[in-house]
Amino acid sequence: MSGKFLWGVATSAFQLDGSPSADWTSWDPALGEKPGLTGHREVYRQDLRLLKELGVNAYRFSIEWSRIEPEEGRWDEGALAFYGELVEILRSYQIEPMLTLNHFTHPLWFAEKYPWHHEGSTEKFLRFAGKVLSVIKGVRYWITFNEPYVLVLGGYFEGCMPPGLRDPSRGFRALTNILVCHSGLYRMIHDRVPGAMVSLAHNMAAIAPWHPWNPLDRLLSRLGTRFYNRSLIEVFMTGILSMKLPFSKELKTEVPVKGKLDFLGVNYYTRTHLRFNPLKNFFVELRHKDVHGYGLTDLGWEVHPDGLHKVLKYASRLGVPIIITENGIATKDDEKKKQFIKMHMDALRGCIDGGIGVRGYFYWSFMDNYEWLQGFDSRFGLYRVDFDTMERKPTSAVEFYAALIRKSSSF
Ligand code: BGC
Repeated sequence: MSGKFLWGVATSAFQLDGSPSADWTSWDPALGEKPGLTGHREVYRQDLRLLKELGVNAYRFSIEWSRIEPEEGRWDEGALAFYGELVEILRSYQIEPMLTLNHFTHPLWFAEKYPWHHEGSTEKFLRFAGKVLSVIKGVRYWITFNEPYVLVLGGYFEGCMPPGLRDPSRGFRALTNILVCHSGLYRMIHDRVPGAMVSLAHNMAAIAPWHPWNPLDRLLSRLGTRFYNRSLIEVFMTGILSMKLPFSKELKTEVPVKGKLDFLGVNYYTRTHLRFNPLKNFFVELRHKDVHGYGLTDLGWEVHPDGLHKVLKYASRLGVPIIITENGIATKDDEKKKQFIKMHMDALRGCIDGGIGVRGYFYWSFMDNYEWLQGFDSRFGLYRVDFDTMERKPTSAVEFYAALIRKSSSF
């Protein structure tokens, strides 16, 4: 991948604006009382202006399928035109758009009739993408799915996200369909967008045993790393999807995705320690400890910049460029936010100096927004949002990130 290093910020449509006809809106009843969330759809021009002032040269955002096709087969052309205009404004500011087609949410009709474990799911999503491609022009960077493993683990293993199941075999089918769909999207986008760069965003975590002296914790850590971080990368190298969860039988199938990534999007946030606990799902308890004394984030996550090198080193086996499509911290403490960015920037520089081909970095998030399981209190934003007045205020991390971009343009 030639060209400039992408310096950006990331958001997702639902987290900024919600949607009346999305599966997640029925899932979280608190959302009914807060339609509009950040009010981005009303003030998008001002918001995009803030992006320009920030000095980023790229912006990752998603489009909300449930607004574009609120009922099966009924297209809301206005909703699509909104995203088309967003792209035009970004282009006029020389900001490279990176468009995510699926960031966790779906139209309610899809969730009810064709959830991902269902045979018909892929065709419905491809039809939606075809429509998007016929209207939205000028996007080179495409993310087909945001964090397929988070979607499937949350939706089918833990049941904390829609469709709220605890059924690994249907979860495996859902993941298989999502990957088959990625393969179709890859072809479709390349057919229609010359020079397109197509990927997905893979959530990778540093993983370690809770008690290093405990062989069961060590075993879980090995299996967890292989399953959570590596199996999605392997499937793009081999075409074989293998899911081996602790103490359960391996699930395996062929999927036609070998080589179908032009870069790899990596979302990196934290390290997780795994502890053997027979009372938990798959005998695994996830924990965070403040090993370095940086303090846990407001979501209770460890700040662990060194983990970046470990996960990216593995990711680089794919042999395609890597873009950090998300990295960020939930905190109300601006100094801590700046420190987080600085430490991850240093780690990133170390990765690049060590020969890992990273070609972009997107901070999560441009502004505070709705956080899936926690609501409105997790402040990831560079801009602070007052959810009553919708006012945006820059945190001091705005100037800090802007200065860093100015200094590091030759990264
Ligand atoms: C997701 C975002 C989310 C962030 C913080 C990522 O896994 O893609 O939507 O807000 O993590 O939890």
